[in-house]
Amino acid sequence: MAVFASGTGTDLQSIIDATIDGKLSAEIGLVLSNKINSGALQRARNHGILDIYLSSKEFDSRDEFVANMMNILESNRIDFIALAGYLRKVPPEIVEKFKNRITNIHPALLPSFGGKGMFGMRVHRAVIEYGCKVSGVTIHLVDNDYDRGPIIAQRCVPVLDDDTPETLAERVLEVEHKLYPEVLQWFAENRVSVVGGKVRIL
Ligand code: GRF
Repeated sequence: MAVFASGTGTDLQSIIDATIDGKLSAEIGLVLSNKINSGALQRARNHGILDIYLSSKEFDSRDEFVANMMNILESNRIDFIALAGYLRKVPPEIVEKFKNRITNIHPALLPSFGGKGMFGMRVHRAVIEYGCKVSGVTIHLVDNDYDRGPIIAQRCVPVLDDDTPETLAERVLEVEHKLYPEVLQWFAENRVSVVGGKVRIL
């Protein structure tokens, strides 16, 4: 599998740790980031995993960028992609090629508090400002809309009266770090199927 990440990479770390602990039967072939200085790429290097910086900004055309991404995935024999805080849209050509084999994790209960521009602390701030009593984690398949593909798993966490975006983020992240490796293992065991646009876990 490949992991795509733009940020500090704590979700990536939970996936790496699960492969080391034998809880996730997968091999992380590469970590790809659009941020050259991301913690995610550093974490990959710390574990001897191929780290790849790939940004559309470095290419003259979009086609060239997509061809490069495709080539990286194919030449490393990647057959599954986990997005873990990747703040770019996955090109439709890649979504098509990896149909139902790309997952994303979102730090709220979709379809609320998702979509373009809803990432990081913005999500938690919006949840608190709305006055929600619960928030949580959503893991879903990736299609061509931000945060819109079929939902694979969700877990709730309470929103406390004195929460700040930071304290809520911390509570949500703790659940993310357990749930993402667990869901990826369902894929490794071939237990995820899509029936009529909805995910069923066998
Ligand atoms: C997580 O909150 C995840 O839900 C979202 O991006 C964040 C990534 O955090 N998609 P980290 O970089 O893995 O620490």
